[in-house]
Amino acid sequence: MKILVTGGTGYIGSHTCVELIQAGHEVVIVDNLYNSSIDVLDKIEAICGVRPSFYEVDILDKEGLEKVFEENDFEAVIHFAGYKAVGESVAIPLTYYENNIAGSINLYQLMKKYEVRNLVFSSSATVYGDDFEVPFKEEYGLGTTTNPYGTTKKMNEMIITDMNLADKNNSAVLLRYFNPIGAHHSGLIGEIPNGIPNNLVPYIAQVASGQRDYLRVWGNDYDTVDGTGVRDYIHVVDLAKAHVKAIEYAASHKGTEVINIGTGRGYSVLEVLHAYEKACGQEIPYQIMDRRPGDIAVCYADTKKAEELLNFKAVYDIDRMCEDSYRFTCNLQKDR
Ligand code: NAD
Ligand code: WQD
Repeated sequence: MKILVTGGTGYIGSHTCVELIQAGHEVVIVDNLYNSSIDVLDKIEAICGVRPSFYEVDILDKEGLEKVFEENDFEAVIHFAGYKAVGESVAIPLTYYENNIAGSINLYQLMKKYEVRNLVFSSSATVYGDDFEVPFKEEYGLGTTTNPYGTTKKMNEMIITDMNLADKNNSAVLLRYFNPIGAHHSGLIGEIPNGIPNNLVPYIAQVASGQRDYLRVWGNDYDTVDGTGVRDYIHVVDLAKAHVKAIEYAASHKGTEVINIGTGRGYSVLEVLHAYEKACGQEIPYQIMDRRPGDIAVCYADTKKAEELLNFKAVYDIDRMCEDSYRFTCNLQKDR
């Protein structure tokens, strides 16, 4: 299939492009390089021997985006492009709504105009909010989101669902990612945090590689195995492979499906820290702090639907996630 990948030079997008190309698909990337670098194209080419087509276009620029549709006959779209920093979304909500909602609507309108009927959208476990019991099941529906970023994911899910109710020939898979971490085992692509990382593993990676002194653990008084927060971490390469299955599913079914992508198993902050210590061969200092506002105690996926509909099951374990993260972090430092 010829697939448009918005946000394809980003963290999850770049890994997905690799898996799509390796599965025999043709990839065209649209990205404005707001949070990624053009060098990623060289890295994708080094890994799979094929360089994806690339357009430096902002999805808010509808005319620019339309040119991409005019020049290509797409069968499907995987839509990653968007802003993703939870705290920032609280500070500048309109910027988040503009980019993640107005930008997405431009894309969906062009898909309609050019009759591109198959879509995979990057949603998030954050849409469950704090309303439900773990494991989170797709049938729970949408919870109460706690920040504008999460609300943009929820609104996109609603928009796509309505759009497809109005046009029964459309097809969409809304993937609710849990906590993607790790990097490609080549060490060539991975997550490059912008400024001080908010997320756990990018922060641990910077402590392990000497860029920060210690990890601040946000609370150890939750009702969990050791009191620290529990999350369902999934290797980004597993997540990328799920996209290949999801887009192939979308191309052969009609309607809208919401599907969790996680491992179905949670790890506490300290369990992740210890796995990372094993991966980097050194102790990682930490201090226990107060809880971070907005955090929930435990979050992990019910993965049955992904297994049943997509025949997808994550294979990489937490040790491998940390090893791959550390390799990429060390390579990044060598390059600087
Ligand atoms: P990322 O920031 O690495 O990738 C997003 C890409 O989109 C970047 O390359 C950025 O330059 C591009 N982009 C942003 N706005 C754009 C615009 N207006 N026009 C064109 N390109 C634009 O983020 P990621 O971690 O790869 O996340 C990809 C998607 O998955 C996002 O939609 C994110 O919200 C979602 N998601 C991420 C996580 C996570 O923990 N990383 C979890 C759940 C969902
Ligand atoms: C994980 C655990 C923290 C940092 C976020 C978004 C979510 C999704 C994934 C996009 C928690 C603890 C963290 C640190 C810590 N993104 N922690 N010290 O909050 O589960 O999810 O990213 O959709 O929407 O909210 O991920 O990595 O920030 O935190 O102790 O320096 O690690 O309290 O228990 P989270 P996270």
